[in-house]
Amino acid sequence: MSVLNGKKILLGVSGGIAAYKTASLVRLFIKAGAHVQVIMTPASKDFVTPLTLSTLSKNPVHSSFFNQDDEDAVWNNHVDLALWADLMLIAPATSNTLSKMTTGNSDNLLVATYLSAKCPVYFAPAMDLDMYKHPSVLSSFNALKSFGNIMIPAESGELASGLSGEGRMAEPENIIAFLEADLESKLPLKGKKILITAGPTYEAIDPVRFIGNHSSGKMGFDLANEAANLGAQVILVAGPTHYKAKNNLVEVIGVVSAQEMYDVCHEHFKDVDVAIAAAAVADYRPKVVATQKIKKAADEFSIELEKTKDILASLGAIKKNQFLIGFALETENEIENAKLKIQKKNLDLIVLNSLQDEGAGFKKETNKVTFINQDFKIEPMELKSKESVAVDILNKVVSHFVKL
Ligand code: CTP
Repeated sequence: MSVLNGKKILLGVSGGIAAYKTASLVRLFIKAGAHVQVIMTPASKDFVTPLTLSTLSKNPVHSSFFNQDDEDAVWNNHVDLALWADLMLIAPATSNTLSKMTTGNSDNLLVATYLSAKCPVYFAPAMDLDMYKHPSVLSSFNALKSFGNIMIPAESGELASGLSGEGRMAEPENIIAFLEADLESKLPLKGKKILITAGPTYEAIDPVRFIGNHSSGKMGFDLANEAANLGAQVILVAGPTHYKAKNNLVEVIGVVSAQEMYDVCHEHFKDVDVAIAAAAVADYRPKVVATQKIKKAADEFSIELEKTKDILASLGAIKKNQFLIGFALETENEIENAKLKIQKKNLDLIVLNSLQDEGAGFKKETNKVTFINQDFKIEPMELKSKESVAVDILNKVVSHFVKL
């Protein structure tokens, strides 16, 4: 999945021949799953039509401060447009537009919006080879870079003038690749490896029966997807569940029993930076697993159970620098029991679920959790979707690494 998926992109098109390539650029953004709004300078409309870009972006194209064609002229709020965006790209960026951006000459909607933008701004220059090397253009590049804007360098090749050299706007595919690489390199969990457990475990009674629980695995899969969205490499050890990982940075290792989950976790734990135990692991399993289906006979029947290994506690016992997060599902004395689990399992953070909270628990879309850290700082959270709870938990992971 592209890092551009779900991103809100504001594309500013200025008036150069390369503007015709923005049709492909918008298509590639949409294909990557981004939302696109386009602002055009008046001059750019000579090179590509607003209708083309609005059709491809599936949004109206903005080019003046108000829509003159409307009976009741509607003001295009450049501040709203700028604040909407996760990133702004000016492509092609002509020398005229670049120079206006450096001086704040906001006589068009594109530059006014640029000046209001708080998001990262990228610019892909396009001009003839001598212009591209002119000191005044170079000083625009330097000024914009000093403002924190990011230049996507022009490429070499045949130019509209007939000359050949540096100045062609980077090809749309290369602009996309540049943005993806830049955004990925800045993801807060880039380079981090995270182990997550999810779902129930099934403990066999005989070849056709097992002891299990109602865990759906959703919380663990949401955590895995969110961690991958933040750039982490994720190993998700999942008990039986129908969920699939949405992000290809997630490696799912399917297991069935607590013992299998234990083995896989121990195989990977030494290589990870973070481990999050979101699985509802069975605490007991049948002491003996019948090799044949148990036949119905006596009126009463009992199964002798033995304890499974506590995976989380075993990881806590051997942890070095790993940031270890556990869950606690409690029905009474929640806070006290959760604090005991922090100590017993040597955790950095516990996510407490109380089944007494409406909307929380197994097979629900929502969850209401309380965070308790090693210093017993208690932080109750609102009832929210499991995706949002996953975001909150991963924010704790990100802050841990920021503090280091
Ligand atoms: N856990 C685990 N291995 C087990 C049991 C639990 O890794 N065999 C993990 C769970 O994934 C969870 C945490 O331990 O992160 C706490 O699970 P919970 O069921 O609340 O507590 P238990 O330790 O099993 O204790 P109890 O059932 O007595 O409350």
